[in-house]
Amino acid sequence: MPADLARPRTAADVRELVELACLAPSVHNTQPWIWQDQGDGLHLIADRSRLLAVEDPDGRELVISCGAALHHLQTAAASLGWSAAVERLPPGCDPDVLAVIRLTRAEPSPTARTDLALLRMRCTDRRRFTSWPLPAEHVENLAAGARVWGAHAEAVTDAVARFRVELLAGRAHALAEHNPYAADEQATWVGRDGTDGIPRAVLPTADGALPGSRFAVDDGDAAALVRHGDGVVVLGGDADEPSAWLRTGEALSALWLRATHAGLSVVPLSQPVEVAATRAELRDVLLGGRFVPHLLVRIGWQAIGRSDLPRTPRRPVEEVLRG
Ligand SMILES: Cc1cc2nc3c(=O)[nH]c(=O)nc-3n(C[C@H](O)[C@H](O)[C@H](O)COP(=O)(O)O)c2cc1C
Repeated sequence: MPADLARPRTAADVRELVELACLAPSVHNTQPWIWQDQGDGLHLIADRSRLLAVEDPDGRELVISCGAALHHLQTAAASLGWSAAVERLPPGCDPDVLAVIRLTRAEPSPTARTDLALLRMRCTDRRRFTSWPLPAEHVENLAAGARVWGAHAEAVTDAVARFRVELLAGRAHALAEHNPYAADEQATWVGRDGTDGIPRAVLPTADGALPGSRFAVDDGDAAALVRHGDGVVVLGGDADEPSAWLRTGEALSALWLRATHAGLSVVPLSQPVEVAATRAELRDVLLGGRFVPHLLVRIGWQAIGRSDLPRTPRRPVEEVLRG
């Protein structure tokens, strides 16, 4: 066995992996995770103190966010020469222990350089996509890649179904807008100083007024949250529970990294699932009861030559890594 394959993992190895995992997307950039390095492996723990009590009372989006970080960790591990055996929701542990990851040395994956670059490049770019329609085949391929991670993923390519998604997104937004508690909660996570939340500089409206979608499209057209050329994928599972949400988060991260590689933007659209009435309609009418929806994503081409967006901040690793 080559010498470096025998080398045990050090605290610095774990820190590097966790730092890369924390580049994952999270709802309102809450970064609702704790990593605990214990003798039996690295534990990923849901940080319920960061729950969005109004918009996400069940913790669906909190666990999806942790699932995205889990996929980021696995991608980073494979790239840096680790084999990561993941046990999801280990029996006998506190239910907030979402996964235990055991690392052993391995050869770095052949795509290591690209994958590490993608982890660093991926971001939520809410600026208007170009008007080039995204071919249905691309959307289907991205959905197929997401399904590999154990979630359901359905590309919405049929014209009638797409129209229904547009209507549902508009209705969910209108209903959420009339909930002052939801509006207040969202406002506390936008434009705050520090290492979490969403800086105004990454939002499309210069004054941060947030018209239109949850975080606005850059022409302020409130009626059009999903446009005709956009690709749409519904991610979900067999049930509305943590084990399925975790898989959806891993699938979301896998889809997003692949889309980034292809020069595509991905923007999650969570309000249609947050609002009970539109969630039921998504499940029963759009999906015909085939699976339970957890999250919608819009996908489109980024404009060529577009300026870089400032990065959304991350909490220092010392705050989230224990042990
Ligand atoms: C579960 C989940 C739900 C999200 N919902 C939305 C949303 O409805 N609208 C939106 O613009 N961004 C949404 N996002 C994107 C986050 O706001 C974004 O990931 C976070 O601010 C960090 O920024 P980054 O992705 O650029 O690193 C969501 C992300 C996750 C993981």
